[in-house]
Amino acid sequence: MAVRYQITGGTAAEISASVESGVRTGALPPDSPLPPVRALAATLAVSPATVARAYQELRQRGLVATAGRHGTRVRPRPPVATRRAARYPTPGPGVRDLSRGQPDLRLLPPLGPHLARLADRIGPPAGYATAGVLPELAEAARHRLAADGVPVDGLTVTGGALDGIERLLAAHLRPGDPVAVEDPGWANLLDLVAALGLRPVAVPVDDDGPTEAGVRDALALGARALIVTSRAQNPTGAAVSADRAAALRTLLAGRSDVLLVEDDHAAELARLPLHTLAGVTPSWAFVRSVSKPYGPDLRLALLAGDETTVARVAGRMSVGPGWVSTLLQRLVLALWADPATSGLIVRAEESYQRRRAALITALAGHGLTAHGRSGINVWLPVPDETSAVTALRDAGWAVAPGGLFRIGAPPAVRLTVSPLDDAEIPALADAVARALRPARPAGFTA
Ligand SMILES: Cc1ncc(COP(=O)(O)O)c(C=O)c1O
Repeated sequence: MAVRYQITGGTAAEISASVESGVRTGALPPDSPLPPVRALAATLAVSPATVARAYQELRQRGLVATAGRHGTRVRPRPPVATRRAARYPTPGPGVRDLSRGQPDLRLLPPLGPHLARLADRIGPPAGYATAGVLPELAEAARHRLAADGVPVDGLTVTGGALDGIERLLAAHLRPGDPVAVEDPGWANLLDLVAALGLRPVAVPVDDDGPTEAGVRDALALGARALIVTSRAQNPTGAAVSADRAAALRTLLAGRSDVLLVEDDHAAELARLPLHTLAGVTPSWAFVRSVSKPYGPDLRLALLAGDETTVARVAGRMSVGPGWVSTLLQRLVLALWADPATSGLIVRAEESYQRRRAALITALAGHGLTAHGRSGINVWLPVPDETSAVTALRDAGWAVAPGGLFRIGAPPAVRLTVSPLDDAEIPALADAVARALRPARPAGFTA
């Protein structure tokens, strides 16, 4: 029988520390419900206001979320190091895992040969004084971004896209500020927004990116920042189209009160052209990660933007970790310069496109409409996430529940095509169709 975790404490600080400890040890895994305020207050013999203060503090730090009648629950990825097993439960034996949202590891460039070549050319050890953004990397990055129409005023390098976005939000916003995010949107970003104590304002997304009405509403609600995924939107695969970019540019033109952040994480892996919004607001940043095409372990992203915005990020970085290791910067430069790597990325892009299209077509054959214009994921609206995820797991497929990515968007599941082989796609589509078939009424016999 499962033992319920006993929250303890006589003050708000003790109660929140007790919840945090439960999260850290895995006794309160993601999505665990916390007791209602009054019930816990009665158990602990404290006032409801004390428990409410503890819950509010946990909410501001992004450990828990309160959603109306669903009560207060541990967030899917609270910003406290938990045991990995609690965070990523391994699907049972024989279950194919399409839930992780990571690139196809078979299609990432091998780093060994580049590292070996670097080892020959690395020169003497670098000290503090000579480290920073490598001029050669900055130069190459400027060319690459300019070729995509991104106006590069300032440029720096961060430890991945999310690191850059965290520094941007921390530099421009204060806890409690509203920030417009795509809904559905990248789960890690929603977790980061919660951890920074910011208030997410949901902007609906269709296949062409954030909707015009959604952005207009978010601006009317006072959003201080807007985060837009250029292409391969996670989880829907949306890509900002030329028309949508034009409409959003009109809405955002000259808005000095809004920081515009573009996340072009798929970068070279995106088949569709970039329609950037960069430069339309005085405060803007364009973030391009190398994670998807070249490998998440490289932990490097380019961050371009207006001079003030970039200086804030680079300055904050300089009083913290300092810079992204020049070893990683050199490695990225070597990968950019390697024609074999570019060829591999083109093949990876084709492979994702083929598998996404095949899955969407196979699902359509069962009367199911799924989304995935670009990237590595397919987003499938379903009537009920829990039953879809459970039925699919029982059929041997682990998929991600849409709840990780949604604020107010309708239920769905995310299927990452990276681990899929082409030959498996018809069987997967059959399993999805069976999993979504309405249960027969009791007593019905065929
Ligand atoms: C929307 C989005 N942005 C960025 C990233 C990559 O971020 P990072 O550079 O921090 O690895 C991902 C990875 O899944 C993503 O889905």
